[in-house]
Amino acid sequence: MFSEQINKKADEIIARYPVKRSAILPLLHLVQNEENQISKDGMRFVAKKLGVEMNDVYEVLTFYTMYFTEPIGKYHIQVCRTISCYLCGAEDITAHLVKRLGIKPGQRTEDGRFRLSEVECLGSCCTAPMFQINFDYHENLTPEKIDQILDSLP
Ligand code: FES
Repeated sequence: MFSEQINKKADEIIARYPVKRSAILPLLHLVQNEENQISKDGMRFVAKKLGVEMNDVYEVLTFYTMYFTEPIGKYHIQVCRTISCYLCGAEDITAHLVKRLGIKPGQRTEDGRFRLSEVECLGSCCTAPMFQINFDYHENLTPEKIDQILDSLP
């Protein structure tokens, strides 16, 4: 199921914590990066590695909004909607994406290419409005800039 390399990475992460179960969040990230979601097998892997119950894993992953139990998609667009971004037009940014992608926040396009989420402050308030696509920040957004960014994605 999970490769030797992932097992090794998980062990390295666990070794950083005095209490094994404290590694639950980074292990969930590790699994999600590997699977593009956190499947039942992924939950089982984390539970086994940490010596906890599946329910313990499920409770944590369903509490946080950054974990998904269904495929995320190729590109996860997270639009910041907190105060600086809100005042600088985050609602217009989301509206443009909704129109262009044909999905609402919390949904994924049928082809699995994009997921759209609205999130709280991503720590880039001075370059509002902004969004994050996978691990990349895109700032000072306008509808035109959004179109350029999306058109440039492979
Ligand atoms: S308010 Fe949007 S990045 Fe902080």
